[in-house]
Amino acid sequence: MLEIRHFTVENLPDGCVTDAEQPRFAWALESDGQDVSMEQATLKVNGWSTTTKEQVAVPYKGKRLQPFTCYSTRLTVTDNRGQQANAEAAFETGRMDTPWDADWITDGSYKFTEKKVSPRPMTFRKCIALEKKVAKARIYATAMGIYELTLNGEKVGADYFAPGFTSYKTHLQYQTYDVTDKLQSSNELLAEVAGGWAVGSFVFTRQNRVTADRQALLLELRVWYEDGTSQVFGTDESWQVAMDGPVQMADFYDGETYDATVKPEQMNWHNAARENLRCHPRIRAAYGAMVTAHEYMEPVSCTKLADGTLVYDFGQNFAGVIDLHIQGKKGQTITVRHAEILNPDGTLNTAFLRTAKATATYICTEGDQYYSPRFTYMGFRYAAITGAEESEIRVGAWALYSELEQTGSFACSNGMLNRLQQNIVWSAKSNLMDIPTDCPQRDERMGWTGDIAVFAPTACYNFDMSRFLEKWLEDVKAEQLPTGGIPNTVPVQGYGFPATMPVMAIDFWGDACVLVPWAEYQARGDVEILRKMYPAMKKYVNACRFWAGFGFGKNRYIWHTPATLHFGDWVAPDVPKMQQWQARSKWTATASLKNTSGLLARIARILGENGDAEHYQVLSDKVADAYVSVFTDGNGKMKEEFQTAYVLPLYFGMFPEKVRRQAADNLARLVEAGDWCIGTGFPGTPYILFALADNGHLEEAYRMLLNIKCPSWLYEVRMGATTIWERWDGLDENGVCPIGDDGTDLMISYNHYASGAVGAFFYQRILGLEPEQPGYKTFRLCPKPGGGLTWAKGSLRTPYGVIHTQWAIRNGEFALEVQVPVGTRCTLTLPDGSTRTCDSGQYAYSCKI
Ligand code: BGC
Repeated sequence: MLEIRHFTVENLPDGCVTDAEQPRFAWALESDGQDVSMEQATLKVNGWSTTTKEQVAVPYKGKRLQPFTCYSTRLTVTDNRGQQANAEAAFETGRMDTPWDADWITDGSYKFTEKKVSPRPMTFRKCIALEKKVAKARIYATAMGIYELTLNGEKVGADYFAPGFTSYKTHLQYQTYDVTDKLQSSNELLAEVAGGWAVGSFVFTRQNRVTADRQALLLELRVWYEDGTSQVFGTDESWQVAMDGPVQMADFYDGETYDATVKPEQMNWHNAARENLRCHPRIRAAYGAMVTAHEYMEPVSCTKLADGTLVYDFGQNFAGVIDLHIQGKKGQTITVRHAEILNPDGTLNTAFLRTAKATATYICTEGDQYYSPRFTYMGFRYAAITGAEESEIRVGAWALYSELEQTGSFACSNGMLNRLQQNIVWSAKSNLMDIPTDCPQRDERMGWTGDIAVFAPTACYNFDMSRFLEKWLEDVKAEQLPTGGIPNTVPVQGYGFPATMPVMAIDFWGDACVLVPWAEYQARGDVEILRKMYPAMKKYVNACRFWAGFGFGKNRYIWHTPATLHFGDWVAPDVPKMQQWQARSKWTATASLKNTSGLLARIARILGENGDAEHYQVLSDKVADAYVSVFTDGNGKMKEEFQTAYVLPLYFGMFPEKVRRQAADNLARLVEAGDWCIGTGFPGTPYILFALADNGHLEEAYRMLLNIKCPSWLYEVRMGATTIWERWDGLDENGVCPIGDDGTDLMISYNHYASGAVGAFFYQRILGLEPEQPGYKTFRLCPKPGGGLTWAKGSLRTPYGVIHTQWAIRNGEFALEVQVPVGTRCTLTLPDGSTRTCDSGQYAYSCKI
């Protein structure tokens, strides 16, 4: 039987509210038959109908959609056997640029002048009486700052940190909340607005007021009555505001202070004032992936220290907020501090949080009560609580991250690798916090471009990243400098150091504008992401080419602007100092230019820009040739040897064929001399195993992957890591951080996904699963067993359906099973080299090994 699965509108399976003029539809199919494919599909919506053979990103092309309207889309699919399936998906349009029947409001008496902290949270209030029967009601809301709404005492929606983090000067999201069933004849609507990213202190220099001088709120309650009339209640000067609500302090880095003794009737309410904003972004229905609460975390132990502090261990490092049930006394103050690791004496090690206080303080009222922060989050595994006895509190926590569907899974016969896969997923969860961040704990949590540039392929295996990345990439485009450089963090939000870097374009970090859309395109197959980003990519690669273009002869293609203007082989563990990582920028930057220009050539070809395709291909080839000519002896040996110097040209295909194998042998020799330990920084880490495995050194790749000596992936696992560390040597064998003054100002995080980029190797080589056509319309399955693994299995929800695959080795035989989704084709290559193609269905094959 044919069945439609995962019928989405704008990549959301349900609840889509959109301002898109041409929302995109997509669906996957499932069938119990073999060789089933979609013959055609008919979509009907709003009097428009189309028949198509596509099933990814099919755009609506009917008459203009109206704002504030619910639409239902009917889909009928016929397969090649004549079977039919039907499904329906509802979506709703948002405001679609309808002018707001509301004003931006603020507390006009509040002058926020302090530096390096966040403003006092503001609370707005409005009582709304309704006389008629409500048919439908929606709240449309946004803020400068981050807001949460309460209607008649109940939280509205499940979002944290609304309206989300965007390049506020250009884009601002609004949220839509269905409150039809929540309204009564008399209603009290509260909006608490904290500083968040727009007004609060952010980036490690603790800039504040970057977007606005103080918080502001813009909101409409739209009510449609049963009698056909409607009414809008918008923010205006009749709303009340107070600055002395229970949330007294809220800051992403420092935490939250909540005084439960504060009662609304005691607050100093006064009329709100209209606010003139400094910037005028386009305000659009939320189009990213909002942060919500996911796993409920329970502590695995509680230790009472000599001074009475209770230290709770959640057994897992993560990003989120504590969840406390308290039996309290009025005025009792409970303090919760957070950290990723402990000191040897069992106290929290907060040294690496730098200026972030990461503290939640709660002042109790009398009796049973509940507290969980709503305007901050922390990255932690341990929570230290003072001010309460163990018997007075029940402690849990919520993992917070963007609403992302987990699409991939991987497991194998090596338990440590399985833990590494879990660590990769947990570091992703912890850092996919509305934007892709570097870390969730210290005073950064910024949209570092280099981190997602290298991690995107792995992220796109494990999660459906479509909405999340599309949103962030709009900001990458918006924040690109006129010179073509991409800021190191997006949104920039106050970060501008050193000023020259993004102006001049910077390798690997700026490459995010090419690498991230490319990874997303491979995973989802929606060409629009390339089309949208193409002008930005071109401008960026042109800038790189410009800055690399100084010198004579082949040196005109070696990018050697001063190393201090690059990050180079960032956090490479084989050299201890930051300056030494940066000193490798000649190699990393030149290889990056070869890669981005080569990818741009491919993208240009896909978009039909053939002139560009040729131009960038020539550039890419010249850069490759220059790298090999200038940096090697011509026979595959680097004049200056380090792992990344080999890895990049091997993975990017820069060596002439006749010396490629020799170069790989040299890399393998270097790796062996280093005892199979990792020596790469951000740029080399995602690719080193591929550079080995794909060039005749599969066993060496496995040996490196399975190494448990420091520095290596599994060393971290051996040391009890539950997330990916920023620094390979984050803890020594005694569990103490050995890193001293290396020029990075204690840049030591235990939750940084960048080197988790190895996850792509699990899918692409251990399982052997790679798209041939983007979105897995056709895909390769070519497992490369090794390292003594006896089995591996995984699944991937592609846009067409779920691929399941598993292999096992028993008595010299390699047995593989695969499920190929409807409408896709798999080219399968077994370890003995035999190849076959399979259309949809279940298959089992085996060969001698
Ligand atoms: C961040 C990184 C980032 C790097 C760039 C760090 O402070 O945490 O992950 O990419 O700076 O230098």
